[in-house]
Amino acid sequence: MFDFRPDDTLAPEELHRQLCEAADALTASEPDGIANMANIAALLWEFLPDLNWAGFYRVAPAMSGDEELVLGPFVGRPACIRIPFGQGVCGAAAGSGRIQRVEDVHAFPGHIACDAASRSELVVPVIRDGRVIAVIDLDSPSPARFSETDARGIERLAALLAARI
Ligand code: SME
Repeated sequence: MFDFRPDDTLAPEELHRQLCEAADALTASEPDGIANMANIAALLWEFLPDLNWAGFYRVAPAMSGDEELVLGPFVGRPACIRIPFGQGVCGAAAGSGRIQRVEDVHAFPGHIACDAASRSELVVPVIRDGRVIAVIDLDSPSPARFSETDARGIERLAALLAARI
């Protein structure tokens, strides 16, 4: 049994340090990327307060022959399955390779509303060998939920996972 019990009074830096440590322990000896993404989605959900969606979109072949984002393991409400590069917050992160920290999703042009409750969003690309292979997507029902500390913490998590998903 895994029993991670994050203390929600922790400073954000320490919370992210513990999250990365737990993610490392959970994935270090498991070669199956889907299992690792599933456990990390659950871990994000346990560690980070005030989320309504936490999970992965993977870069995968599009039906047209190009590549696009395809829904991966997550916790939250059922979500849109395929997102072309450049569309929505996730597609912007995948297309640019840059973190998208959106304080108000209603003000983001092209935001894709999978859950009407979402108000702010953080999307961090997972980069392996210089290519985006997936994104980590976090949604919150609170405006401006995600800080720069959250962005840097999830960026470290993405770097850790790049060889494990
Ligand atoms: N809001 C995202 C879509 C994915 S869901 O939030 C799970 C976007 O605009 O790309």
